[in-house]
Amino acid sequence: MHVVIINGSPRVQKYSNTEKIIASFAKGLSEKGASFETYAISNRKSWEMIREAYIKNEEILIALPLYVECIPGLLLEFLETLPKKDEHTRLSFLLQSGFAEGCQLRCGEEFLTKLPEYLGVRYGGCLVKGDNFGIRILDEAKQEQVTKPYQAMGELFAEGDGFFREEAKKFTGPEYFSLPMRLMLQFVFKTFAKKMFQKAAASLGCNTPLDEKIWETNSGCRE
Ligand SMILES: Cc1cc2nc3c(=O)[nH]c(=O)nc-3n(C[C@H](O)[C@H](O)[C@H](O)COP(=O)(O)O)c2cc1C
Repeated sequence: MHVVIINGSPRVQKYSNTEKIIASFAKGLSEKGASFETYAISNRKSWEMIREAYIKNEEILIALPLYVECIPGLLLEFLETLPKKDEHTRLSFLLQSGFAEGCQLRCGEEFLTKLPEYLGVRYGGCLVKGDNFGIRILDEAKQEQVTKPYQAMGELFAEGDGFFREEAKKFTGPEYFSLPMRLMLQFVFKTFAKKMFQKAAASLGCNTPLDEKIWETNSGCRE
């Protein structure tokens, strides 16, 4: 099996969490004797080259982060430039995000489920997993440790069943946190995390409260 892997994050490769996840996944592919080539859409100059790889190959995997509960705008723009192909091509997805509950990636997954049909190709399933906010700020050893589970998913994918097997479905982890956990997180976000975000915003020059309802002020805009 030869897989074309496309990083669908707008973030430059060097800082992209998706990029680190792809590296681990690709290790798994290699372990099982599959080969791969990788691309990233963050640099528009490479789009022509990526399109060519998409046209020439039959096993395509788009790995992408969840941005604002759905698909990054830059990826949508890139997808619009892809030509229609036929069912010899299989298109699979690896959807990852910051927050950990599986439920909040389902809207994005739903969109991706429908996409292959629009492109005329076969759907190879979608691997769904959150809890990836911090990857890029970890040191190399920790990054490897955190992304290691994706290696097993690469091995699984190389066996040819896309992401339809039970192991891939279980990989998501909890669909919802337990009630005590949700209450605890709510408390943290309303107190410590809120303070931390406000401080970070202030360091970037923002002096208005982050939860300000600008539509309730007269002008809706401040100096
Ligand atoms: C603009 C933006 C919007 C985001 N929206 C969400 C979101 O709705 N839900 C979520 O769980 N994570 C969200 N995240 C977090 C990313 O999905 C997460 O950090 C991901 O690992 C980033 O991958 P990347 O570095 O390859 O872009 C968002 C990040 C950014 C920058």
